[in-house]
Amino acid sequence: MRQKRLLVTGGAGFIGSNFVHNWMKNYPDTRLVVLDALTYAGNRANLAKLEEDENFRFVKGDIGDRSLLDQLLEEEKIDTIAHFAAESHVDRSILGPEAFIHTNVVGTFTLLEAFRQSWESQKKPENYRFLHISTDEVFGSLAPEDPPFTETTPYAPNSPYAASKAGSDHLVRAYYHTYGLPTLITNCSNNYGPYHFPEKLIPLTCINILLGKPLPVYGDGQNIRDWLYVGDHCSALELVLEKGEPGQTYNIGGNNEVKNIDLVKMICALMDELGANLPVSPAGDLITFVKDRPGHDRRYGINGSKIKQELGWKPSETLATGLRLTLEWYLNNRDWWEHLLSPEYQAYYHKMYQNREL
Ligand code: NAD
Ligand code: TYD
Repeated sequence: MRQKRLLVTGGAGFIGSNFVHNWMKNYPDTRLVVLDALTYAGNRANLAKLEEDENFRFVKGDIGDRSLLDQLLEEEKIDTIAHFAAESHVDRSILGPEAFIHTNVVGTFTLLEAFRQSWESQKKPENYRFLHISTDEVFGSLAPEDPPFTETTPYAPNSPYAASKAGSDHLVRAYYHTYGLPTLITNCSNNYGPYHFPEKLIPLTCINILLGKPLPVYGDGQNIRDWLYVGDHCSALELVLEKGEPGQTYNIGGNNEVKNIDLVKMICALMDELGANLPVSPAGDLITFVKDRPGHDRRYGINGSKIKQELGWKPSETLATGLRLTLEWYLNNRDWWEHLLSPEYQAYYHKMYQNREL
């Protein structure tokens, strides 16, 4: 692979930090700069193992800060951006959508503009790439018998989060068509794995089992998501950066569509097997149905044919193998997640779940 000088935005978050670790393992000679604002979801400890590496640099800053971007792009001679930085939690976008517009829409626009100017000032080199990591939620909700999303499924976002990601996808697309900036977009399904912030379904369920707290399942628990192991996602992103065609979008899925209630039951069964001395056993006794999320999409599913046929990628973990890896990681890294259960997080949790039982 040609040597890249890579800027990873949001690299202290869940998927970004997994991507950075995988990348530096596979291409240790890359200059890799992480730009991250360290919001509640960003955690520099996720990158601790790389802090001594002289090819690695961490910069705390906002993707909306244009002068910082200009300085970084020039100083580091960045030719490739992997853009993960975002507000990423649907429930928080319902409580307060403004930050989602600031980062996901305006921040992505600012980053695109800075990168376009840098690319043009270098006389538009062909090897430059802007990889935008997006979500299947931009396509809206599927009915049970609908075929899964393809790259040509019309956009129909239903939450402020999904709408803000859709807006950013459109901007990225427009920069390719209008200016010729070599952009790539990926739309993936629900990721899971190590370093996943406790507010999301899989870590929340695992942690609540370890703490003996109720396991909140929204509505009737019949909503379906496709689950993608984060390591598989990162290998797909590396391939898209290397072989993807600028201007194209690629759907990335895990081939693991499952109902929420069945997923929670799988986690309970695995924790009964893996966790010693659980406070409540069997863990399934903690399952509690709670009031549904407003506008809750019923089903997401991904048709992964394009990336398989064009780039030769398919996921290697099943939900059973990926979940086992994930739960073992949470059992072995208790310090990591206990640290994140801060007073701010407890206040969020209280606001989200208090008096919500059906
Ligand atoms: P995350 O919330 O764990 O991490 C986001 C990171 O971005 C954090 O480190 C945060 O500090 C940083 N950040 C937020 N605002 C910023 C700003 N203004 N400037 C600089 N940094 C900022 O998110 P994640 O789950 O790792 O998701 C990464 C990307 O993948 C997002 O773009 C998300 O929309 C997309 N995605 C996630 C999933 C999923 O299941 N987690 C699925 C599909 C797509
Ligand atoms: P989440 O991890 O928030 O991802 P997304 O909303 O982006 O798909 O939620 C996954 C599914 O789990 C979603 O259908 C909402 C549901 N859910 C619960 O049932 N209980 C919970 O406490 C959470 C956080 C999510």
